[in-house]
Formats: sequence, C-alpha cells, structure tokens
Amino acid sequence: MKGVILAGGTGSRLDPITRVINKQLLPVYDKPMIYYPIEALVNAGITEILIVTSGSSAGDFLRLLGNGEALGVTHLSYAYQDGAGGIAEAINLARPFVGDERMVVILGDNIIGGNIVEAVRKFEAQEGGAKVLLTEVENPSAYGVAELAGDEIVRFVEKPEAPPSNLAVIGIYFYDAEAFRMIDGLDRSARGELEVTDLNNAYLARGEMTHDVLEGYWADCGESIEHYLQACNLVEQHGANRLS
Ligand code: DAU
Repeated sequence: MKGVILAGGTGSRLDPITRVINKQLLPVYDKPMIYYPIEALVNAGITEILIVTSGSSAGDFLRLLGNGEALGVTHLSYAYQDGAGGIAEAINLARPFVGDERMVVILGDNIIGGNIVEAVRKFEAQEGGAKVLLTEVENPSAYGVAELAGDEIVRFVEKPEAPPSNLAVIGIYFYDAEAFRMIDGLDRSARGELEVTDLNNAYLARGEMTHDVLEGYWADCGESIEHYLQACNLVEQHGANRLS
C-alpha cells in the first residue's frame, strides 16, 4: 500500500496568508500542516509516500522534509502539479509511483484526531475497489456529501446547495490502481477540475465503493480561516493522529 498526500492547490480561501506560502506549510499548533497527514500514514504502517505539490514553494517541502526519515518515512517521493486542475488530476500524477498497488490518498489540509489503522486493515481485506470515510458536519454544502438510502451510499455530490445529508466525505480516500484508468475517463467539471467526487461516483457505479464513519474529530484547515483556527485549537486540546 502506498501513501499519496496532495499538497497543491491555491489555498485561495485562506488568502492572504497563503499568498506566498503553500497552505500545507502553514503551522497547525506546533507543527507544519503537512506533518499531520504524513503521521497518519506512518501510524498505519504506510511508509512509502508521494507528496504532490505545486507553485513556487514546492522546493520548501524538500527543505522541510528532506527524505522523510525523521518522520518515519522509508521512501519519500515528490511530484509537481502544474496549476490546480483538481484533486483527481493530482492523484493521477501518482500513477508511476503507485503502479499496480493500492493507495491511501490524503488531502494535505485534512487533520484527524484518531487514526486510519482500522480503515486500512478493512480496505486491505477488500477485493479491490475503493473506500471513503464519512463524518457528520454542520456545513455540508462546503464539502463532498454522501446521499444514502438506508446504509447504502447512492450518490456523492460536490458542495451541494441543498445537501442530501450532513455526512461529508473527508479527504482520506482508499483506491486500487483502477483509479488511474477511471480518471482517464473523467471530464472536467464546470470549474475546470477533475473532481474526486466524480471518481468516487465512478466507483459507486461499479458497485466497488465501501464506506466507514470516522471516529474522532476531523478538520479541513483549508475551508476557511475559522476552520483553520479551529483545527489549531483541536490539535492543541486533543492532539492528532492518536493511536488509542
Ligand atoms: O476536505 C474534504 C473535501 O476536499 C471533500 O469533501 C471534497 O469532496 C473535495 O472536493 C475537497 O474539497 P475542498 O474544496 O476542500 O478541496 P481543496 O480545493 O481545498 O483541495 C483539497 C486539497 O487537495 C488541498 O490540500 C490541496 C489539494 N489539491 C487541490 C487541488 C484543487 C491539489 O493538490 N491539487 C489541486 O488541483
């Protein structure tokens, strides 16, 4: 299993603090944001990691992390995304790194209080396909949202004006290597991006998507300055990536 962390994007919702600094290099309590997804993967035994980044501060990730050894990473690779063409476009850059293996993709601005150990174990036990993690939120319109019929997800909707539920799809995704072939078949959305929600709907259409509900808190630091501040406070008060 390989780990892929997406640390590109524009960080426009945190402007002006992201004008000259990549969002994922901003501090969250006592560490740079990018440390948290790395720690989440390493805790789950995933130590071969690719970081996808972009923009003028891409070289700063190398200065900060080097070969990743200090954080328990055994192999750290970097990929460069030209522009911000979407999460699925960024995932596609991991194709040569992941090969025919499976991957856990984490959005570099997502922080969790608990861990993904159990979710990784369950995904490994799946025949293939994909898995997403859901959590209840107060502002579902800001996220990808799951529409359910009973316990089954019937559709994912990206930032819906009228959310079909309050269950957000968090930015930790589990895919087999088929994801790359499926991304090839995606069209760009109205905002010009290859959307992760379209990739997830493609897995759903094949009947190859499972889900779990996340335990513990989830923070999307990039959602707004208020969410960023809240994430710093959550980490200070409750820690992050706790193993028990
Ligand atoms: O945080 C969870 C949400 O993340 C999901 O619920 C949504 O379905 C999903 O689309 C995404 O929404 P955001 O609006 O939060 O995505 P954002 O543009 O902030 O990008 C999330 C991360 O992905 C961020 O750490 C930067 C990275 N990224 C993003 C884009 C658009 C890239 O590396 N390349 C990109 O082109």
